Amino acid sequence: MPISFDSEKRIFKLDTKTSSYIFQAYKEDYLIHLYYGSYIPDNSVEFLAPHQHNASFSPSNPVLEEASGFTCDSWPMEYSCNGTGDMRVSALAIRNSFGNTSTDIRYISHRIFKGKPALEGLPALYSMSDDDASTLEVETLDKVTGAKVYLLYTVFENYGAMTRSVRVENSSDKPMDIQRVYSACVDFNSMDFNMMHLYGFHCKERTLVTRHLEHGIQSIASKRGSSSHTHNPFVALAKDNATEDYGEAYGFNLVYSGNFAADIEVDFNGSTRIIMGINPTDFSWRLEPGSSFTSPELVMVYSAQGIGEMSRVFHRLYNNHLIRGEWKNKKRPLLINSWEAAYFDFDDDKLVAFAKRAKELGIEMLVMDDGWFGTRNDDTNSLGDWYVNENKLKGGIKSLVDRVHALGLKFGIWYEPEMISPDSDLYRTHPDWCLQVPGRDKSIGRHQYVLDMSRQDVRDNIFEQMSTVLSNNHIDYVKWDFNRNISEAGSALLPADRQQEVFHRFVLGTYELMGRLVDAYPHILLENCSGGGGRFDPGMLYFSPQIWCSDNTDPIERLSIQYGTSMCYPVSTVGAHVSACGRTGYETKGNVAMAGTFGYELDPIKLNDEELETVKKQVADYHKYYDVIHSGDLYRLIAPMEDGHHCAWGYVAQDKSEALFTFVTMLYNCNSTFFARLKGLDPDKYYRDSWTGEVHSGALLMNAGLSFKNAPRKDGTSFTVYVEEVK
Ligand code: GLA
Repeated sequence: MPISFDSEKRIFKLDTKTSSYIFQAYKEDYLIHLYYGSYIPDNSVEFLAPHQHNASFSPSNPVLEEASGFTCDSWPMEYSCNGTGDMRVSALAIRNSFGNTSTDIRYISHRIFKGKPALEGLPALYSMSDDDASTLEVETLDKVTGAKVYLLYTVFENYGAMTRSVRVENSSDKPMDIQRVYSACVDFNSMDFNMMHLYGFHCKERTLVTRHLEHGIQSIASKRGSSSHTHNPFVALAKDNATEDYGEAYGFNLVYSGNFAADIEVDFNGSTRIIMGINPTDFSWRLEPGSSFTSPELVMVYSAQGIGEMSRVFHRLYNNHLIRGEWKNKKRPLLINSWEAAYFDFDDDKLVAFAKRAKELGIEMLVMDDGWFGTRNDDTNSLGDWYVNENKLKGGIKSLVDRVHALGLKFGIWYEPEMISPDSDLYRTHPDWCLQVPGRDKSIGRHQYVLDMSRQDVRDNIFEQMSTVLSNNHIDYVKWDFNRNISEAGSALLPADRQQEVFHRFVLGTYELMGRLVDAYPHILLENCSGGGGRFDPGMLYFSPQIWCSDNTDPIERLSIQYGTSMCYPVSTVGAHVSACGRTGYETKGNVAMAGTFGYELDPIKLNDEELETVKKQVADYHKYYDVIHSGDLYRLIAPMEDGHHCAWGYVAQDKSEALFTFVTMLYNCNSTFFARLKGLDPDKYYRDSWTGEVHSGALLMNAGLSFKNAPRKDGTSFTVYVEEVK
């Protein structure tokens, strides 16, 4: 059984094939954390409690003898509370009816069951059968305030992964306000970690940053209303000596698309605490008697085989237990998108001309991006008016869709459902429908305001408008965009003492609308987007199997964006296109975009003969290598920041019978030969590689490596090496 409880010692043990996670209901029913790391078979582990830890002016529980050494401040706590002796960052703070925020939860009971429950109103990982996941729910109580707190743990035994969430119930007869409720807390007894996280901005999302932990609090967060371009809700703690292929790494990824925070504190003992969840800034939640609040889910992955294996576990887990619906395992259509091809300057004939040329090239779907609705010829108006601009699409959408389908292509369309232009019929009719606070100007971003998605009437209106188009036309794909961050987050419908709920209610409203859309049109392939990858998170992936990775389509700059993205997100989710811009030739553009969903974002009529031939070859390669790329495991060979010259990665089939490796010369180095050791192959198998044309053992290819003496000696060039088992 992956989850066990020793009723005598009151120890919980959550095992996967590769990891163990252990905590205890200690004296006075405190929940203390004992261990998280490589799998250990032992059950007698109570001695792991840190009896020797220093306390430094740390107050202790009056009932427990001071001699026991226990203080909430110096011992590893399972879920840290505010104001009752633990001075480190706390996961939970509830303002009670007396007005203070002192919070103290103690163990009451627990239940262990097979499978994984859904989280109300929230995206979450799911189990496919009772056998692939087991759940522990620990009931705790703050006796003084009546706050019941349930700690939820689900173990995915075959993955080295678990999920965490917290549900708070008000079992008292007075209201209380949750001021912070992080999704999980994990205490480690050392500080020898590097913190890895993904920072960025528009056109430079998810760039990997690695820094050593220091005493004090180190945090990443978003208070932009979305998970954001600037910080992704992903953090890894990798042991000092861990590398891509060796050593211990703990990955944390929040299934949430709004304001989040990850706080990591190293205390005076040199112990490390990580808490991650909804950002407590601008958050508070009124809990009336009998009601409950559920936190988003945190995914935790442990790897003893380096950062690379941590990523592969995330990838497998998300492909199998996060991505849903018809498109989960279906081959994604190779698309061409009108945005960089035409921006707002198109009509039906132009789009049909794109489609004709695209068809000749073997492209499978045309996506009509921004500009088809209201009176939109630039970005200053019409968001919220989701009816067709017949000046552009002369016979309406139906005629265009039919013409594109008649050519044998699928058809996709762009929306930005959460936004409203001040210059729109919707705003003129419902000025109170956007987020705003009394007495203040509304900040403007890309000439637009943000709709109040916490309101049912707003969501219903947008859903009906979208339905009118989606139900009456055969639309195969929707791109859902989100092109500004949220300010003045106030809702006209909520009372003053609930205004701090707006940011979270906004996210819940968006999830509800997106869920409704996905349920009503299960055949539609949904791709999320937010000015590129400003909302690239597991919450969005629960609804859309792919997300546009970045508006930056320069293949060299994309290398570090896609490298960072690959820390936890699988290739099947990474929207990547070949565009006309960018500093390299089409070959490298294609090789880089192939590390994603693949498609085109250009005017196909402007391609010259040589480029047309390259595109045809890419389309053929897309089909040839689809399975190994999308079902294979990612091995990162050379990180883009490693030597400043090269970047390389590969996908290896699960049965290790074939692999495709890609090598990019970012900046040609005239003094050294491009050389790389392959990874992920079977050392005992023999392979023919397309570079030498010869047969070598996996052991040779991985240990001695390949030397690319004849590789192109030019910046921005690239090539692939296909490796196939020879029996
Ligand atoms: C965002 C997206 C682009 C495009 C434009 C349209 O910036 O990232 O791909 O859809 O919006 O306005």
